[in-house]
Amino acid sequence: MMPPTVFAFALFALTFIGSQANAATVEHTFHIRNLTVSRMCKEKVILAVNDQYPGPAIEVAEGDSVVVHVINESPFDMTIHW
Ligand SMILES: *[C@@H]1O[C@H](CO)[C@@H](O)[C@H](O)[C@H]1NC(C)=O
Repeated sequence: MMPPTVFAFALFALTFIGSQANAATVEHTFHIRNLTVSRMCKEKVILAVNDQYPGPAIEVAEGDSVVVHVINESPFDMTIHW
């Protein structure tokens, strides 16, 4: 049986090593362009990401890095807010 202080350190070290090993870089490419949607029998052009509305989800874990390439194929200047 380990003394409590040694056990606490071992647990911390494993947690730290584990989170480093699981850290990932999550990369996405967002194409922003027109999407024609039908609502109540009317067609409307909206801007969407990768032809999806709502846009794609970005799933990450704590410690991951996120890289998003945004390609604006719309006729408008735009900013993306996170
Ligand atoms: C995209 O939609 C805008 C606004 O409706 C329109 O002015 C533009 O011509 C459209 N572009 C394309 C490539 O369809």
